[in-house]
Amino acid sequence: MKAKELAKECDRILETKKFRDYPGARNGFQVSHNKPVKKVGWAVDADLESIRKAGKERVDFLIVHHGLFWGSSVLDRKIRAKRIREAKRLGVAIYSSHLPLDAHPELGNSIGLLRALGLGDSKRKPFGVAMGRAIGWKVEGVRWKVRDLVNRLGRATGRKAVVLGFGPKVCRKIGIVTGGFGDLDQAVKAGLDTLITGEADYPTEVKAKELGINLILGGHWETEVFGAMEIARIFRGKKVGNRKEAEGLAADYFVTDGSG
Ligand SMILES: [Fe+2]
Ligand SMILES: [Fe+2]
Repeated sequence: MKAKELAKECDRILETKKFRDYPGARNGFQVSHNKPVKKVGWAVDADLESIRKAGKERVDFLIVHHGLFWGSSVLDRKIRAKRIREAKRLGVAIYSSHLPLDAHPELGNSIGLLRALGLGDSKRKPFGVAMGRAIGWKVEGVRWKVRDLVNRLGRATGRKAVVLGFGPKVCRKIGIVTGGFGDLDQAVKAGLDTLITGEADYPTEVKAKELGINLILGGHWETEVFGAMEIARIFRGKKVGNRKEAEGLAADYFVTDGSG
């Protein structure tokens, strides 16, 4: 299967066309090549380290959440040009999906985090609108101690979570949106007592204190590994074209450790 066809398949699965996104997100195929794809990999960021790791692992189709086109300063363009040059040199095609990958109800980042927290069986509703569509979840009808949630988040991400315990000690209405979600208007409207996300800026932390909302922060990168990993998994061993092609496709996937 050619990279272009695989990108189309990703767009179909993720319903890319249904989403508006932030300027720079540019969901879809970002760097192409004409070789048949033999190994699919994933990373959270299309940074130089991930591209080089992909090259080293002979990944020829890299699925990422944060793509190449954020920012337009001279420096941004310079960094981007270097990444693209390196991806082309190494024969790594890059497919990026931002909000569609956060939002996907089965394969997305937010549902992945929710399940990793052990909340998969709880009652949930879409929550956390970004560019017109919900990208996260609100969990209700639960009674979870803040301490337990923090411990579970730490186990799910492999990193100690930051807890700003401004709300009740027992959480009943929990918002889960991966990455950097700090829209407290939405949190208040949804009646949340707890918001779990990756990171929050300082003004958001101060407001959360006054509003009496727990903020539990698991790390931007750490909360956003789920979606790209799940999409890459789909292509593991998928039958496409002739048998030989299918066996070679996505024999493995890889992960960057995000340590920079
Ligand atoms: Fe995200
Ligand atoms: Fe993000």
